[in-house]
Amino acid sequence: ARLVVLVSGSGTNLQALLDAIAADPDYGATIVAVGADRDGIAGLDRAERAGLPTFVVKVKDYDSRAAWDLALAEAVAAHAPDLVISAGFMKILGTEFLARYAGRTVNTHPALLPSFPGTHGVRDALAYGAKVTGCTVHFVDDGVDTGPVIAQGVVEVRPDDTEEALHERIKEVERRLLVDVVGRLSRDGYRIEGRKVLIPA
Ligand code: GRF
Repeated sequence: ARLVVLVSGSGTNLQALLDAIAADPDYGATIVAVGADRDGIAGLDRAERAGLPTFVVKVKDYDSRAAWDLALAEAVAAHAPDLVISAGFMKILGTEFLARYAGRTVNTHPALLPSFPGTHGVRDALAYGAKVTGCTVHFVDDGVDTGPVIAQGVVEVRPDDTEEALHERIKEVERRLLVDVVGRLSRDGYRIEGRKVLIPA
């Protein structure tokens, strides 16, 4: 499968995919481009070090959010992906984008959805006093972190946890979960039936 990965930050999920692809000739996917909503981020450096094409589509360069959404969809479409992986991408993908890529866009979220959706899932779980949290890999739909769940991983919350410490522990699980899911979707194919994601064993 051809993957376009969207990032907004450090890109360690992207790096995990790059490493898995480099390590396993039978992984079943290749990253054909990396896109971002901002420049000057480590995620783009990682892509350039891997020799991958990159693109940056900034909201402020467009006179509406819808125009940005369309521009992002076109920038992605230029690389003809089979799957779009939103790995730490911090913008909501809108109608224009989903018109083309719904059902083919996977997101990873650092909480156990439906708990703690949105931009501060780790902070919210910690503040709530959750005893366990974790990460969710799901297909993107037109809500915020509401699409069909593909896989989840559980991480214990420790009494002395800070947001950063907890997020780092979550990211260790998240990277493995994302690599496993993307490989299975790419190799085995899948079907989405309502809220169920069916991947042949
Ligand atoms: C990940 O935990 C992702 O779920 C969240 O932000 C983090 C991004 O990490 N949205 P990275 O950019 O992949 O290192």
